[in-house]
Amino acid sequence: MLDIINLDGLETLAEARLPRGTFDYIAGGGGDEWTLRENRAAFARLALLPRMLRGVTPSLATTVLGAPLSFPVLVAPMAMHGLCCDDAELATARAAAAAQTLFVASTLSNRSLEEIAGTVDAPRWFQLYVYRDRGVTRALVERAAAAGYDALCLTVDTPLTGQRDRDKRNAFRPRPGLSFGNFEAESATADLGAPNNESALATYIAHQWDAALTWRDVEWLREISSMPLVLKGILAPADATLAVEHGAAAIVVSNHGGRQLDGAPATITALPAVADAIAGRAEILLDGGVRRGTDVIKALAHGARAVLLGRPILWGLTLAGEAGALAVLEHLRAELRLAMTLLGAESVTSLGRDSLLRVDD
Ligand code: GLV
Repeated sequence: MLDIINLDGLETLAEARLPRGTFDYIAGGGGDEWTLRENRAAFARLALLPRMLRGVTPSLATTVLGAPLSFPVLVAPMAMHGLCCDDAELATARAAAAAQTLFVASTLSNRSLEEIAGTVDAPRWFQLYVYRDRGVTRALVERAAAAGYDALCLTVDTPLTGQRDRDKRNAFRPRPGLSFGNFEAESATADLGAPNNESALATYIAHQWDAALTWRDVEWLREISSMPLVLKGILAPADATLAVEHGAAAIVVSNHGGRQLDGAPATITALPAVADAIAGRAEILLDGGVRRGTDVIKALAHGARAVLLGRPILWGLTLAGEAGALAVLEHLRAELRLAMTLLGAESVTSLGRDSLLRVDD
């Protein structure tokens, strides 16, 4: 079992194990990486106001879109877990199931969505990128439904990849032989003749995905699929309102882990106004910078129902495969339980803004 003091510490350990280009691809962000840092910094500007002498034994259980979860932390959709361990998404999906939480499988998984669905019987969502070829997109949606995925999670913040300096510098390429499990033949790898001074993934995305996605495409997805729709990448309250109007069952307040528009606000900064706009009409999740049990509490107290955990899961996978990913989830669960106890809070479902104070910076 991976011995974890805190989740931040895992990054340095994983860095020593991974090729430079791979580590930078996972760890890096857009532009000057301000948003990447701000995701963490904004959590640190919020204080928690504990209540005393309540004798609580906190309950961490919740539901997300009806799926029972043992604690309010999901595994975020991330590309290519095969960069970190050979079992790739199968290891992560099993870890999520062992922790009794929900796994979100990326379009850019190394294992196919059917293999992932077959490895363990647990709640799961399929994260969708919309390909210019709508036949490709439709096929992914139909396969996800047939394989029993519980929701479609459409990423809306990636018409193109962000300005990823590290990936350009490294001319990032997934290692040879690592393919996208959801596709056959020529679209199966990211290395589609990218120029030497460019990230192969950025080139792939620019060629394959529809950079002109609109709300009309959201309507189209709703027409072709009856799966609940989750829109991931919402930051503006007006978009949160549009998401509800277009039938989203849930939204994820996300800036793609600081990997897309540098200068976008931290997700915990954006959350309160989004929660006000949603006003209970859809479930709200948040990702970006969650590293501590106290971060989970801050997100929930601001109106999120649960959070998604990204990079630390990949560090856990790198360091110890499935057991490592599970250790990361269990560590966060233990931190959350302790923090809830010290806060005097009874249940993750009843946290509110009365637990928060803003600290002047
Ligand atoms: C892909 O979605 C990435 O963020 O690299």
